[in-house]
This record gives sequence, C-alpha cells and structure tokens, in this order.
Amino acid sequence: MSSQPSANNRGYAGLPIPFGWFAVAMSDEIAAGDVRTMKYFGKEFVMWRGEDEQLRAVDPYCPHLGAHLGVNSNVEGNDLRCPFHHWTFNGEGGVTGIPYTKVIAPSMKRSCLPSWPVQESAGVVYVWYHPRKEAPKWELAQLPRCIEDGADIGDWVPAGRHEWVIDIHIQEITENGQDHAHFAAVHGVPGAPSAEFKLDGWQRRNMVVAEMNTPRGPMTGTIDITAVGPGQSITEYTDVTHVLQVQQATPIDAEHTQIRWQLYHAPGISDGRMRVAQARMRDLAKQIEQDIPIWNQKVFLEKPLLVQGDGPLLAYRRQYAKFYADPVAVENTAVAAE
Ligand code: FES
Ligand SMILES: [Fe+2]
Repeated sequence: MSSQPSANNRGYAGLPIPFGWFAVAMSDEIAAGDVRTMKYFGKEFVMWRGEDEQLRAVDPYCPHLGAHLGVNSNVEGNDLRCPFHHWTFNGEGGVTGIPYTKVIAPSMKRSCLPSWPVQESAGVVYVWYHPRKEAPKWELAQLPRCIEDGADIGDWVPAGRHEWVIDIHIQEITENGQDHAHFAAVHGVPGAPSAEFKLDGWQRRNMVVAEMNTPRGPMTGTIDITAVGPGQSITEYTDVTHVLQVQQATPIDAEHTQIRWQLYHAPGISDGRMRVAQARMRDLAKQIEQDIPIWNQKVFLEKPLLVQGDGPLLAYRRQYAKFYADPVAVENTAVAAE
C-alpha cells in the first residue's frame, strides 16, 4: 500500500491549479480610480478601474525596469501609471505614454505586458486564469431569471453574501456535492435518494430530489446545480422556499481556496415566505460551516476506497481533469459504484 499524504503534504502535489473564470472581488469593492494587487492562483496581478468604470488587469511588474504596478501606482483616465518613471499602460498591456520620450515602438503600444481577461456579472468580478495564458474556452455563466411553474417571474432578489477562505485544494470543494454519504453524517440530512448527474462539455449538472429538514419540518424538495467550469456553480433550491445560491470558488494557491456566495430569494414574496427563505439561507450557510473543519484538515487521496452509495466521485474527478492544462492521473481502481 502506498504511503499516505501527511499534514505537510496533503496530497495536492498531483493537483495543479485549474483554468477557468474565477471570482476575484465583488464589484463594489473596487471604485473608479482604485488599484488593487490581487493574489490568486499562486500568482499576483494588478487590477484597476478606469474613469469609464471598466476594470482591467495586467501582470504585476512593469516591463520598463520592473517596478511593482500595484505599489504607489495610480489610474490616469483609463490607464495605469507606473510609479517609477510614469509610463502609462492600457488594459491590453500596451504603453500609452512615456513622459520623457516621443518615439514609442508600435509593438510596445500594442502590448508589452501580459493582460488578464476581466468580466463583471451580477456584482462579481471575474478573471480568466490559464497557466499558459490561453484565451477563454467558455462563456461566463450569468445569473438566471427566476422561473416558477414555467413562468418568468422576474429577477432574483439579493438576500445576502458570504465569504470563506478554506485550507483545501479547489477540486475538493465541489467534490463534496458528489459525496452522497456525507450528507447524513455531516449535515444530518438524508443523502440523495434520486440524483441525476450529467456532464456536458465544461458544464456539470446535478439534479437531486431530496428529503430535507426545513424550518417547517421534513419535506421533499429539489436541488438543481449547474456548475460551469471549476469556478462557478449556481444552485436552485425549490421546496417550501425558492432560493438561489450562487457560488464562486477561487484558488488562492494549490492549498487555499476562497469561496464567495451570493444568496437570492424569489421576487414578490410575502413576509411569511421571506422569513422561511431567510431561515433556509441560514441553514445553507450552516451546512458549509459543518464541512469546513473537515476540509481544513483532510488529505486528498488519489485512490480513495469507494463503495456503493458513495456517489459519482470518480465521474466528477474525470470531468474535473479537463480543467487542468496538463494531464493529471484519475485513478479508477476502487470498488466504485457510479
Ligand atoms: S519601471 Fe515602470 S515606468 Fe519605469
Ligand atoms: Fe457538505
């Protein structure tokens, strides 16, 4: 039997950082004229918001003489000005001005500093990360409309935000949703009596019909999860309440992951339904907080000892392997019931 991972080597050596769209801030955390040094993916980059309200991001070191563009730099119009000799850069990493030179080579004007694709959606700031800087491979998932009984009843209503930093590799966070046996043990809810698991390109869909404990007692509800890439999942709970949980997971590095949630309830609900929805949302946050102590200390086993009833863990891992730029091993040796 191979030796186990340890507290200092939690098994993540074989798991690189996946590529994808990842949340790096909330939109209201960065005002026009703000410059932020971001630390994610085991790297740094510098993001700023121009006068035109657009966010832009570039690698951190000025290609002129190496100053850090997140330290004492400032925003000029829509450009970022380096503190050291006041060169200015646009969002493509092109030089837009040098105060003491008239001639700037066209190639420098085009781009001489790697830039990062940035998008904002529903109050969340995303960047596209790829270890080799390949262009985005899929579109960012957008907030859906609220549909009840087949009818579009309007926009989901924002009802709260959460953030956690967890000592764990990002792949393990969403693996938790495929781990049916832990629902009863950790969360005190029956597992997934009927769960559909569908993979479609970069997207994963889980549709679960589950017995759940609600503030009004046990009942049957549906949990419909759409994950797009490794960084975004949108979960719709339909039971006594109708609640949307929008989650972003972002690797800080291979051993630390930031999770953000934005919670929404259906529009136009009564005060009574609102109170039940709020209780449901508190319960969702309680559930992740039950997972966190286990996540913070567990190790990743490449060859888990799986049995019937564990859930589609290996199918999940095989799909997840597509998010790595270089191949990773996905073992298929266990007594898996998929
Ligand atoms: S190092 Fe940035 S302008 Fe010189
Ligand atoms: Fe969990």
